Amino acid sequence: MALYSEKVMDHFMNPRNVGIIENADGIGEVGNAKCGDIMKMYLKIDENIITDVKFETFGCASAIASSSMATELIKGKRVEDAMELTNKAVAEALDGLPDYKMHCSVLAEEAIQAALEDYRRKQEQS
Ligand code: FES
Repeated sequence: MALYSEKVMDHFMNPRNVGIIENADGIGEVGNAKCGDIMKMYLKIDENIITDVKFETFGCASAIASSSMATELIKGKRVEDAMELTNKAVAEALDGLPDYKMHCSVLAEEAIQAALEDYRRKQEQS
């Protein structure tokens, strides 16, 4: 059996939404201390809808594929719906990840949560 699904390979080789957003409404950065991989998410939010999302990931193939898929899953969604995105949903959308690579999808969930929290914090301040 191949190590990675075709979808993982596709999102790793052609990641969607790579980059940064200037003046993002929410930014989240997380890392995994064990493997040292880092993921950063930028959100543009307009009237509670995620209108744009970009990421930068310095990490393994699964981390890049997970961030790419996660951005696709939350684009156009309401903030509350994006909050509910789990790493499991990301892995499922990728047609699965090997067990020992599940933590890479956790990074994507955490990066999005962190960016959404940052957005909420900024909302409260303004
Ligand atoms: Fe660390 Fe994949 S090995 S995120």
